[in-house]
Amino acid sequence: MSINRLEQKLMEKLTELETKGTLKGREMIITSIKPPEGNKGPRYLLEGHGDQEFIRMNSNAYLGLSRHPALVQAEEEAARLYGTGPGAVRFISGTYKPHVQLEKRLADFHAREDAMIFSSAYATIMGVLPALIDPETAVISDALNHNCIINAIRLARPKVKAVYAHLDMNDLEAKIRAALDQARRVLIVTDGIFSMRGDYAPLDIIGDMAARYSPKFAEGVHTIVDDSHGVGAFGRTGRGTLEYTGAAGIDILVATLGKAFGVNGGYLVASAPVVSYLRETAPLYIYSNPITPAEAGAALTALEILDGPEGEKLLEHLRTLTQLFEQGLVDLGFEVLRSAHPIVPLMIRDTSKTREMVQYLTANGILATGLKYPVVPKGDEEIRFQISAEHTPGDLAGVLQCLEKFHKDK
Ligand SMILES: Cc1ncc(COP(=O)(O)O)c(C=O)c1O
Repeated sequence: MSINRLEQKLMEKLTELETKGTLKGREMIITSIKPPEGNKGPRYLLEGHGDQEFIRMNSNAYLGLSRHPALVQAEEEAARLYGTGPGAVRFISGTYKPHVQLEKRLADFHAREDAMIFSSAYATIMGVLPALIDPETAVISDALNHNCIINAIRLARPKVKAVYAHLDMNDLEAKIRAALDQARRVLIVTDGIFSMRGDYAPLDIIGDMAARYSPKFAEGVHTIVDDSHGVGAFGRTGRGTLEYTGAAGIDILVATLGKAFGVNGGYLVASAPVVSYLRETAPLYIYSNPITPAEAGAALTALEILDGPEGEKLLEHLRTLTQLFEQGLVDLGFEVLRSAHPIVPLMIRDTSKTREMVQYLTANGILATGLKYPVVPKGDEEIRFQISAEHTPGDLAGVLQCLEKFHKDK
């Protein structure tokens, strides 16, 4: 087969990624799911692994809602009523009743004036940041922010682009000060929960700092938080990092419907004027289809569950399991970055050992994610476990036993 010059270049690039160690490689394909049985949570069957069962310790579905009968029913009913796709973007003829109901419910849930949904949280950030950043804006971003924030800032071309050291409030303040006399508007952007380590931004301090410096800029200092891993998994009632930190001064909250909510899509909540402006100016809202009406129906049901007694129980169960697992790892002598968030980073601090351990876990039917150099700095290599409310104490005991065996054998 002849390969043209472009394809050759592309292949060279892939080889480069492989050499660097950042190639994602072949994707694992889930072929079926075995429902929970007794004291065993669901098990996953994978292409190429015959009938070996896997426990998924690397899913963002923190509440285990994606196969919840009420969500499946809501999605089925909405699909029957409205069809499988929206058929147009929102302003043409793609707005359905479930979209509007979901936006109203999301705004109420977060105690904000309005909400708008996008096809994903990534699309939300890509839509919103360029719409709010003009040539007189300084945008100040945490060094470990998610890739969507980095790319959105690249797309926006602000007057000042500054990155502060991860969670370093002194550095953030220094960056705000450096923007004085340079910008009319300042936007501080941060993840709520950072997905690599499950650590969180001190949103209370960030909100207060924004309020303090706001009068010094002609168009103020504003805060945007992407709490995709936080909402539904963190905070007493699942309202995320804002709830956990008691933050008051966050202007725009972005989150996903595709993690704890168990569905798909993204959204933001903010004041009514901000949302009205964004509906007219965020290209990924205006020119791209929304989630399906059926997904909106399922997400609405997820929200009802989260905001009721069942959600309270699920969150409590998630917290208990997280503590159990963290303590189990500590008792085995492992180094763990402990937090109340269900991301549990087991620090290995060595690339080849991380690889070896992940392979051992996989061979024993446990799916977990190894984060190795250069994805994380040298010395910060870890195995990221993610707890879900669909796990059972027995499941976690099995994972701990497997890790203990690895510890002894090696
Ligand atoms: C902070 C943050 N934003 C956005 C996303 C992407 O979410 P979605 O799949 O809804 O685009 C993620 C997912 O990893 C995330 O951690």
